[in-house]
Amino acid sequence: MSKTRGAARVVVTGGAGFIGTHTIRLLLQAGHPVMVIDDFRHPCGEPVPGEVEVVAADMASPDALRALVAYRPQALIHLAAQGGVTRSLRDPASDALNNVVGTVAVLRAAVDAGRPTIVFASSGGAIYGRARRLPSRERDHAQPLAPYGAAKLAGEGYLGMFRRTFGLRFTAMRYGNVYGPYQDGTGEAGLVAISCDRLLQGLAPRVTGDGQQTRDFVFVEDVARANLLALARPLDGAVNVGTGRATSVNEIVQMLIRLAGQTLSPDQIAGRPGEVRANYLDPERAEARLGWTAQVSLEQGLSRTLESFRARLTAGSPPAAPTA
Ligand SMILES: NC(=O)c1ccc[n+]([C@@H]2O[C@H](COP(=O)([O-])OP(=O)(O)OC[C@H]3O[C@@H](n4cnc5c(N)ncnc54)[C@H](O)[C@@H]3O)[C@@H](O)[C@H]2O)c1
Repeated sequence: MSKTRGAARVVVTGGAGFIGTHTIRLLLQAGHPVMVIDDFRHPCGEPVPGEVEVVAADMASPDALRALVAYRPQALIHLAAQGGVTRSLRDPASDALNNVVGTVAVLRAAVDAGRPTIVFASSGGAIYGRARRLPSRERDHAQPLAPYGAAKLAGEGYLGMFRRTFGLRFTAMRYGNVYGPYQDGTGEAGLVAISCDRLLQGLAPRVTGDGQQTRDFVFVEDVARANLLALARPLDGAVNVGTGRATSVNEIVQMLIRLAGQTLSPDQIAGRPGEVRANYLDPERAEARLGWTAQVSLEQGLSRTLESFRARLTAGSPPAAPTA
């Protein structure tokens, strides 16, 4: 596709991943020249489009930081992170090394790159902890329960400092539970992807605990659209990217079983200690400040996800590398 004259140059860290792949698709459609920085430790399996410049390196490496500065992007969508709440509890130091120290290195280089607008992947699922009231609003006290959420909060803290001291403009996107095509279903996180994988293998989906825990499930294309809107309107603060709807694990699993045309009963497995019981996000700020609301209903989103998993299986595409 030819580039739209004047469309901002955008660097996407973690662009080979799940949310990155959908975000890049929209960026290219809008005519943005794009550079991806990704070390491919956890790619989603979709090839990065040919017109995208790729720096295959750790985001904190001298090569990646030099490339970022030389590209002089007008915007930086910072998605690269090691995912996984459980993994972060097992090894908080390596989580912090990648997700905090890596983020600080990228932000420092962004200053030298000419202060692009930053869109930062934070987490509405992990940052609020045991919320006193629901839905969670951005001004509520953030009390993460896992190192992964603490790292996101630290990232937001650094963004505030980089804004005050170095003039970087930013928006911290507090995504809900993102699901959709190309998500890794082989790891520990991603209920929808894991359940799709299991159903297509003829296995019963798994439900942890009583399955009544709730989350805010948001479709990945809606999230990618929010990322693009934030490029043009930095808020210098946080914004929830969720549907404002609480859905239980049981509801998700039952819907997927029905959409798959199966009659299996879910396997119940032990609950995770310290798991948040209820979480969903107030999306009012995203609507007021970004003009964003989730468009894809849960039914449509789950059905499209299941279909894409089926298509990949039929095409014999290799599964993404496991998260842990
Ligand atoms: N998926 C969700 O539900 C969700 C929810 C809230 C926040 N987030 C955040 O959104 C971002 C994207 O998530 P995702 O689901 O697409 O994850 P993902 O694992 O699919 O993508 C992350 C990408 O970052 C790359 N990466 C990781 N560490 C890197 C490093 N040091 N240098 C270079 N590349 C590196 C990986 O190879 C991968 O391609 C992450 O920051 C994640 O924490 C995701």
